[in-house]
Amino acid sequence: MAKKGLMISRLYSMLFAAFCLINCHAAADANERKVHIVYMGDRPKGEFSAATTHHSMLKGVLGSASSAKKSLIYSYGSFNGFAAKLTDEEVRRFSEMDGVVRVIPNHILKLHTTRSWDFIGFTQDAVGAKPEGDVVIGLLDTGKLMNHTQTAMVLTKIKSSHKIIGGRYYNSENWYDETDFKSPRDSEGHGTHTSSTAAGDKVPGASYYGLANGTARGGVPGARIAMYKVCWSFGCATADILAAFDDAIADGVDVISVSLGADWPLAYDEDPIAIGAFHAMKNGILTSNSAGNSGPWPYSVSNYAPWTLTVAASTIDRKFVAKAVLGNGQVFTGLSINSFELHGKSFPLIWGGHAANYSAGASPDISRYCITGFMNSYKVEGKIVFCETLWDGTGVLQAGGVGTIMADDEITDFAFNYPLPATQISASDGEKVLDYIKTTENPTATILLGETWTDYMAPYVVSFSSRGPNPITPDILKPDLTAPGVDIIAAWSPVAPPSVDWEDPRSVDYNIISGTSMSCPHASGAAAYVKAAHPDWSPAAIKSALMTTATLVDPKKHEDLEFAYGSGQINPTRALSPGLVYDANETDYINFLCKQGYNTTTIRLITGDNSSVCTSTTPGPAWDLNYPSFSLAVLDGQPIYGVFTRTVTNVGPPNSNYTVWMTTQRGFTISVEPQFLSFSTVGEKKSFTVRVTGPKISQQPITSGSIVWVSSDYKYMARSPVVVYNVLPTPYSPYDSKSQRKPTFRRPSMYHKNGILGRN
Ligand SMILES: *[C@@H]1O[C@H](CO)[C@@H](O)[C@H](O)[C@H]1NC(C)=O
Ligand SMILES: *[C@@H]1O[C@H](CO)[C@@H](O)[C@H](O)[C@H]1NC(C)=O
Ligand SMILES: *[C@@H]1O[C@H](CO)[C@@H](O)[C@H](O)[C@H]1NC(C)=O
Ligand SMILES: *[C@@H]1O[C@H](CO)[C@@H](O)[C@H](O)[C@H]1NC(C)=O
Ligand SMILES: *[C@@H]1O[C@H](CO)[C@@H](O)[C@H](O)[C@H]1NC(C)=O
Ligand SMILES: *[C@@H]1O[C@H](CO)[C@@H](O)[C@H](O)[C@H]1NC(C)=O
Ligand SMILES: *[C@@H]1O[C@H](CO)[C@@H](O)[C@H](O)[C@H]1NC(C)=O
Repeated sequence: MAKKGLMISRLYSMLFAAFCLINCHAAADANERKVHIVYMGDRPKGEFSAATTHHSMLKGVLGSASSAKKSLIYSYGSFNGFAAKLTDEEVRRFSEMDGVVRVIPNHILKLHTTRSWDFIGFTQDAVGAKPEGDVVIGLLDTGKLMNHTQTAMVLTKIKSSHKIIGGRYYNSENWYDETDFKSPRDSEGHGTHTSSTAAGDKVPGASYYGLANGTARGGVPGARIAMYKVCWSFGCATADILAAFDDAIADGVDVISVSLGADWPLAYDEDPIAIGAFHAMKNGILTSNSAGNSGPWPYSVSNYAPWTLTVAASTIDRKFVAKAVLGNGQVFTGLSINSFELHGKSFPLIWGGHAANYSAGASPDISRYCITGFMNSYKVEGKIVFCETLWDGTGVLQAGGVGTIMADDEITDFAFNYPLPATQISASDGEKVLDYIKTTENPTATILLGETWTDYMAPYVVSFSSRGPNPITPDILKPDLTAPGVDIIAAWSPVAPPSVDWEDPRSVDYNIISGTSMSCPHASGAAAYVKAAHPDWSPAAIKSALMTTATLVDPKKHEDLEFAYGSGQINPTRALSPGLVYDANETDYINFLCKQGYNTTTIRLITGDNSSVCTSTTPGPAWDLNYPSFSLAVLDGQPIYGVFTRTVTNVGPPNSNYTVWMTTQRGFTISVEPQFLSFSTVGEKKSFTVRVTGPKISQQPITSGSIVWVSSDYKYMARSPVVVYNVLPTPYSPYDSKSQRKPTFRRPSMYHKNGILGRN
């Protein structure tokens, strides 16, 4: 198991968005100054010089103006706070200071086409009909490559029509290695990929070595991109992420796209992405986040603040396969994005177990998995090696092998690209290959060039996509929706390795990768599309429109139902006309936070407004936040009971009438009062209650139904899932007086894949 754990780690962490590792740096000297964020809530009203205030606070604690100046890294101005290098003692003194919400160590996070837009029904014809040119998407990522095939056009645009309106970079730790560019330029590929997915230009003939050849385009090619480079070869530091939010808010971007996150539950006021997104929301900017790549385990979702959009990853109808053909004519089809052509030539086929490098300490029990450094080149050279696990191919490649056939059932729903001819077949097919090797005099095989097949099962949420329930607020459903995030082709940095092998010397302009990092920019592009059509809509209204118009995802393909896909798969075209929206503003989120256990004192710090008040001092469920979905966490063994109040705003025709439709699975009843809503003006609001009742349930992982507001002419439908599930009395109780519940679950170690080995 340990071996497999490492293997999965390696593949996942290299391919996409693994998240890391908060406090990767272990306990160091208490007197050593380390970067911390001192967060003081919103910017005070009136005259306020952030830099002066922060400098004088630091001077007070550190003792001199010069040490204050040396320590200060960022002075945040769109909200109130700063990042500075502090000793443990200085951290303690700031924590106790009036006005300080939290002192947060500088955590290191890790990062978490094009058929994908067409697949979700958002065709080229739909794009371009709207004035997306006025919309700016801010991406917090690894930077963006300014000049290659697709981006060469982008470069022209920078000079002419300002395609990339800005690029900034942040590195509070001042850690650079030889692969990092000290500029907004991307050396990793990830930021180039995400930005081209959201708003890349239309480029015909884009492919990965001929695979997936077609026209590449972003969701809103007319929109502009502002790149905030916060991720480096070591990861992404939270002080930098907050600095990027600060600038993006000041720069006036319309949507912020963040394909990275922390890997375990953080309270809302200790999570810099939640904090940054809160202040963005106050300023009318929606933040779209990746849900994380820690699935399929329950409670694995990250970026779950209710003011952000949390995006899961699902498949499109294209999958990548490569066939292995044995000397006896048997053909096995495996998953792989295989760009290598062996021209049908057969090579000797051996089992990895027969190629142990004994001087390196290997035995057949190790080499059967073809682990890097343990293979014997005398045996492997010039051959195709059969390996009993999925690995990145470097074990065989470094020993001079021609190709590899790997047998594994661990990952069956997405493909990797490798630095040599390779394919991943099922374990049972693997037994047949092994049988052939053992019973044949001179076994041979070849691996064919990769193909694209239609995946008729699509869409379904991929196994690695992080799942709900929400680990902090059980009564808010997360993720919010799903978008394409599997085997997505988009622009790539030619200086970054295209495969899972870091040392792969090849250079590509387009690459095919998977992750919620890839689905997030799809949702960001869709949000920008809605924003362009409705510039006056609030972040909550845009989010509501995306959620209530999402395409239903087949529940039969998902045991964990909405905890996998939320409201469904984004449908940008329909999101333009949701009819009704569930709007919410800062006041609503403040009331929500009060229910979560924050009090007037702490709320005032966060809002920076002395008039903010928590009316209710009793923590309780989040049922009344005007959220576009419904989640009811029931204590194990208790009856199902919840009453939700919601308000919808008419954004359709002035005179519209709506009737509610309800669907329920067995086990509980939904009743809505009133069942008919009549509007006579645009912007008119109507409230209703949703009662969810049923008998006692225990050990219920999830059951769900939905309510749909349908206009009398059937032109508009706003659908919200209703989810009911059991939580344990402890430590999950939503009725704990302690607001921030920290689940103590642990994922199986096999999926502890974070941060061990590296960059996306
Ligand atoms: C892109 O820019 C880099 C650095 O400025 C340069 O080395 C490279 O040759 C350029 N590539 C193209 C295709 O212009
Ligand atoms: C991609 O398709 C276009 C049009 O069918 C063709 O001209 C081009 O050669 C193809 N490119 C590759 C790399 O296969
Ligand atoms: C055995 O492994 C060592 C260490 O990886 C390597 O240096 C050596 O070349 C290998 N020997 C053969 C025959 O592959
Ligand atoms: C938020 O909306 C409510 C009505 O839904 C309104 O009473 C309140 O003033 C608004 N708050 C802000 C900060 O706009
Ligand atoms: C508000 O919460 C903070 C932090 O939990 C606590 O220190 C403070 O005493 C509380 N204030 C009131 C008025 O309850
Ligand atoms: C808010 O109240 C605090 C304490 O009463 C005071 O120090 C501060 O100046 C007030 N801020 C504003 C903006 O009124
Ligand atoms: C909506 O319902 C009201 C009251 O039932 C009715 O008078 C009105 O004509 C309806 N409007 C539309 C557009 O159907």
